[in-house]
Parts: sequence; structure tokens; C-alpha cells
Amino acid sequence: MSVLKAQGLGKIYSSKGNVAYKALEDIEMQVEAGEFVGVMGPSGSGKTTLLNLLSTIDRPTSGALEINGINPSKLSDQKLALFRRRELGFVFQDFNLLDTLSIKENIILPLVLDGIAPKQIELKLNSLAELLQIKPILDKRTYEVSGGQKQRAAIARAIIHQPSLVLADELTGNLDSKSAKDVMDSLKDLNERFKATVLMVTHDPFSASYCQRIVFIKDGKFFSEIRRGSNRQAFFQQILDALSVLGGNFDDVPFARA
Ligand SMILES: Nc1ncnc2c1ncn2[C@@H]1O[C@H](COP(=O)(O)OP(=O)(O)O)[C@@H](O)[C@H]1O
Ligand SMILES: [Mg+2]
Repeated sequence: MSVLKAQGLGKIYSSKGNVAYKALEDIEMQVEAGEFVGVMGPSGSGKTTLLNLLSTIDRPTSGALEINGINPSKLSDQKLALFRRRELGFVFQDFNLLDTLSIKENIILPLVLDGIAPKQIELKLNSLAELLQIKPILDKRTYEVSGGQKQRAAIARAIIHQPSLVLADELTGNLDSKSAKDVMDSLKDLNERFKATVLMVTHDPFSASYCQRIVFIKDGKFFSEIRRGSNRQAFFQQILDALSVLGGNFDDVPFARA
């Protein structure tokens, strides 16, 4: 079953001087349930624009989008907000955790807001925290834990309500190589054991090597796609090769090391 289906997706930014800028053009994309997909492309290629459309934060100027069989453009603002909260999970580069809450409170906040019974919340939290290896830090504040731990907490928060799709934007962009590896290992575990469907934008080949499939975009258009075999190291090399064919600038976030 497809969790995400984008057909002929396009985005034109019309800024103040009435100068229209075509940031995305004719993007076709399908993500099946349980897939772990990466989107890569040089700076300015349209990655964030694409993610904003897929996350329903922005509306496309052309084409159609379907998430879990629903076209978000057809929803009212109020229904859209609910749809986003239920169907999607977000992981950001800068964690977006609330400093006034403990790690645990950050993670369970979406469920508390949804009125889920405390016992059920504890159950969900427990299994997730175990898998993400953040049990010892649940009662700590965000400033008492490392970047990698923060990001694993953010992943727990993104996934605890079992969304149809988890969207991540440069989630290892603020992490050192060791933490980046821990975070990607965790995300892979969640994908495999919890069957979480993940779409992640990155320009880091190491993080991308955890994906099953990578879609490359350039100048707002589809460029190429590669699939991973059984070996992550070999896939890493394939990604580097694809990036050198792609060309362009990748200097917005530093690379993690493989
Ligand atoms: N709100 C906006 N208004 C006008 N142009 C924009 C806006 N957001 C992005 N762009 C332009 O669209 C292109 C793609 O941007 P973006 O999606 O941020 O690329 P990436 O995330 O791959 O670096 C860039 O040329 C950028 O300058
Ligand atoms: Mg970007």
C-alpha cells in the first residue's frame, strides 16, 4: 500500500516583485508502507520545498498529493492541522524539544494532548525508550543530555502516536559522526521493528546510506534514483558516485563521516 503518492507536484514561489520562481517541477513520488526513503540534492535543489509540501505545511501550485489516501489540499485548515498531527511525525535538524519539559514529557506530549490514558502512554513510551536506548535520560531536561540523545528523544516523539509517515529534515545535521550513527541506527531499528515509514531529506551520504532507496533531485526536478542492496558500505559508495554525477553545491550542512 502506498502511504504517499505525489503526482506532477510543482511549486512556484511568487515573491514580492512578481518574479515567479519555479522551485519544484513535475515531481512523481511514491512511498510504500514500511519503506525508508531518502531525498538528496544540492543546496537550492528544492529539498526543503518538497518536504514542506509533503508535510502539508505548504500547498503545491500544481499536481496532486495523497497521504494515506487523503488529499490534504482538500481539507479545511482545522482538519488539516488534525490530519498533520495524526498522520505525520516530524524530526528536525535542531531537535525542536521544549526546554521547560523533561525528555519524557516532550515525548509523550502529543499523546497527552490527544487524551490517551496514562497507562497506555506508559506502555508505548516504555517500548520506544527501550529501543531508542533513552530510558536512563527520561527524567532529565533537554540541556542535561547530548545532541544524539536529544535527537533520539525527538524521534520517539515523532513516532509515539504511530503516524503513517515520519518526515525528517537533515536530522543528523547538528550531530557529530558517533551521534549521527547512533541516531541512524535507531531510525533503522524503528523502520524495521515498528514498520515505521520514513522519508528523510539529507545531503549527508553517510546518513543516506541507511535508506533503502534514494531519490535525487536537481534544479527542482527528479534526477535519478538508486536502491540499496544488502551492503551499507557499498551503498555509501554508490551514493558518493551518484552525488558526483549530480554535481552542485552541498555546503549548507557539513558531512558526517562513514
Ligand atoms: N519562500 C520562498 N520564496 C522564494 N523562493 C524560495 C522560497 N523558498 C525557497 N526558495 C527558492 O527555491 C529554491 C529551492 O529552495 P529549497 O527548497 O530551500 O532548497 P534546498 O532545501 O534543496 O536547499 C531555492 O532557489 C530557493 O532560493
Ligand atoms: Mg533545505
